[in-house]
Amino acid sequence: MNSLKEVPVSPVVEADGALQFLDNLAAKHDEVMSYQSDYGRVFFVNHPDDVKSVIGSANYVRTPLLSISLGQGLITSDGAYWHNQRRLAQPMFHAHCMPGFATVVANYMGALLSDWEDSRLCDMPFDIAVQMRYVTMQVIMKAMFSIDLDLKTAEEWDTVFQVVISDTSPFALALFNQPATVSPTRNKVLKQSLGAVNDIVYKLIADRKKLKDQPRDLLTLLVNGEYKKQEEPLTDLQIRDEVITMLFAGHETTAIAISWTLHLLGKHPDAMQRVVAEIDHELKGEIPSYQDLPRLSELKKVFEESMRLYPPVWVLTRQAKEEDEIAGYRIPAKALVIVSPYTTQRHPDFWNEPTRFDPERFSDEQSAGRHRTAYIPFLSGRHQCLGKPFALMEGQLMLAMLLQRYSIAPVAGFSVTPDPCATLRLKNGMMVTATKRGADAAQ
Ligand code: HEM
Repeated sequence: MNSLKEVPVSPVVEADGALQFLDNLAAKHDEVMSYQSDYGRVFFVNHPDDVKSVIGSANYVRTPLLSISLGQGLITSDGAYWHNQRRLAQPMFHAHCMPGFATVVANYMGALLSDWEDSRLCDMPFDIAVQMRYVTMQVIMKAMFSIDLDLKTAEEWDTVFQVVISDTSPFALALFNQPATVSPTRNKVLKQSLGAVNDIVYKLIADRKKLKDQPRDLLTLLVNGEYKKQEEPLTDLQIRDEVITMLFAGHETTAIAISWTLHLLGKHPDAMQRVVAEIDHELKGEIPSYQDLPRLSELKKVFEESMRLYPPVWVLTRQAKEEDEIAGYRIPAKALVIVSPYTTQRHPDFWNEPTRFDPERFSDEQSAGRHRTAYIPFLSGRHQCLGKPFALMEGQLMLAMLLQRYSIAPVAGFSVTPDPCATLRLKNGMMVTATKRGADAAQ
């Protein structure tokens, strides 16, 4: 590989946050870029062809950046171990499971929407982003672990989870030359919250092991290690890592996608009107089921466009096992490589007026022939999100039920800004008012 070009090291430009940092680098969009970070030299690829070279190759393996909280689960592992774990979890995500999961979503979402009336929450401005997280927490607990969480417990669990994820993020943000605000006090809080999460999860595991009639769910698959009968069962630590990974992967991401969608709909009343008209016309006031979703095409386009502009997983890190070549450049062995769905999905060669909200980009006509790695909210290749069909179903169903029953309006003067942590959160949440719609809408 001697004839390969060396990637020049970009000077570090002061940037207001990690997104702007990457945006600035991506402005040189057709090159493989490199810069110095607290973790050493980082390589950043942005062109869809180069992204494909990374995410499509077994040479680029996951880094342990989130392992401090998640351990070695499906999202942080790679190689043979990851492959086994993926095979183990796969049966939970077969297409035939989705209608049943949709009923779980509809039940919890319906209960939350009724609770808004009973608790009179909808009489005043409230943060809808946290409310969405409570439902996705309830849904993932029921769908994967057969646990019925009431709203209050979902709220408590969400609080400790938020601390764990927030306080893990600075370790990752240092990669983008953002100041790591890790103080001894925060470390103590992180330790306590991790302890609380571990208590919850180890109790779940112990309870399941004692249970005679075990439900057919992910926890049972993990506890019994059914995929490789001849080998050792998983240890409690291995099960803990997978449970926490699934809670993290399956709860915050979808809730964030819904919140960004509501934000964009709030800013684009024409799109909101089209989506609501479609919901009313297609559902006729009935609670939606999995089978109804294909008819809600306006909603689907809006949801997809929202994940283009604000992908919940906005960055991925990988490490090169061996020296490699990308676009004629040398990628050294052990190099840290990053890919950002946020910047690639705004690449001006692939997206016309990339910062404009335009759901029509996802019409069949406009989607035809699109570069497969120009749009990667769920990634693609071997590490493609295992929960993709689940998340698409859940996001659309929750939005449909919400907009069927309530008019959602952003609170005047409240500004929404992205907060790139382990996921692309909304800084300070999203304050809205919710007004109950007329009888023609839904019950
Ligand atoms: C809108 C919501 C979601 C988005 C945008 C999203 C995105 C992603 C992305 C980008 C990855 C790849 C991470 C990497 O390779 O470093 C991933 C992996 C994963 N996601 Fe999701 N996800 C979402 C929802 C879900 C849900 C609801 C579940 C579970 C029910 C889930 C389970 C997983 C799992 C298990 C992996 C690891 C896949 C593997 O490497 O085998 N995700 N997700």
